[in-house]
Amino acid sequence: MKTRIDMHGKGLMKLYDITDEEFIYLIDLADELKKKKKAGIKGNLLERKNIALVFEKMSTRTRCAAGVAAADEGGRAEYLSSREIHLGGKESVADTARVLGRMFDGILFRGYKHETVEKLQKYSGVPVWNGLTDESHPTQVLADLMTVREAFGRLKGLKLVYAGDGRNNVANSLMVGCAKAGVHFVNCTPPELSPQQDLIDGAEEIAARNKCTISIVHNIETAVAGANVIYTDVWVSMGEESKFAERLKLLRPYQVNMKVMQKTGNLEKNKIIFLHCLPAFHDKNTEITSDIGALEVTNDVFEAPFSKVFDEAENRVHTIKALFVAALGPAKNVVKSSIVRKAVKRK
Ligand code: CP
Ligand code: NVA
Repeated sequence: MKTRIDMHGKGLMKLYDITDEEFIYLIDLADELKKKKKAGIKGNLLERKNIALVFEKMSTRTRCAAGVAAADEGGRAEYLSSREIHLGGKESVADTARVLGRMFDGILFRGYKHETVEKLQKYSGVPVWNGLTDESHPTQVLADLMTVREAFGRLKGLKLVYAGDGRNNVANSLMVGCAKAGVHFVNCTPPELSPQQDLIDGAEEIAARNKCTISIVHNIETAVAGANVIYTDVWVSMGEESKFAERLKLLRPYQVNMKVMQKTGNLEKNKIIFLHCLPAFHDKNTEITSDIGALEVTNDVFEAPFSKVFDEAENRVHTIKALFVAALGPAKNVVKSSIVRKAVKRK
């Protein structure tokens, strides 16, 4: 029997906090909302809903995706840079949370400490979504696996290899997301950058029930054999800028280039895609790489037809919208993807 999914009033701190069924439901709903938008249908599922976007760190995709997602369904998002509000400075996070909770219907937070997003959830009384902390990036991974499913028509049994900084926010969330979706996850990283053991244990428990595996390996050439998805992220995450030289040294051997793509054995068979959460250092065309050139991925891979990075970026809108609609949509159980399907049919 199919379980009825009801995520009304539910935010998202970490992927561990939602069930495997809820994870897939959000991707299903995002698919439907994407179809609806492509069909040119103006939505009203977030009518009169106000969402605060509280950001301590920079963002292009997450911030814009949330703004567009809210507007597409008749809602409104307000960007609040932590430099311009009293968060944690002149006012405690708990007090700011209580104020925002009286004015807004939900809060999307991006910042440093996971503790801050938890406090916002605890004190605001409204759904809070984690739009990236030092530890995790759950909304990103919904878009990643949506993109994988679009490319292959399925998730279960595929093999995704993440190469690079194995202990960053994206790697941590990707490990859990793959486990929930039944995707074999390989984290290819130097021993110094392996994920925390408790996180690996948690993901392995989820993977076991979904018949997939979690591996942490150090040799990129053997790791990628048979991969369907090669994924990388920046070598130095926001807030870790002082580690730039050290990371370059450690991670050079983990660069995703055409040789790595060839080693998958799936390039000629068209059974491989490349993903990156972005922003990416794939060329000399940024201030940081103007002298040194490509870092985590070479330009030929980034620009190749098998690179789905811009589909992935677009899918940030549809998946964040799914989270907003599931939590704040009209009423309990009304947010079934079938209402979206009907709207598309009517058009
Ligand atoms: N991928 C991602 O989260 O991008 P932004 O930092 O631009 O939001
Ligand atoms: N790991 C990166 C992800 C950016 C979307 C960072 O935290 O900077």
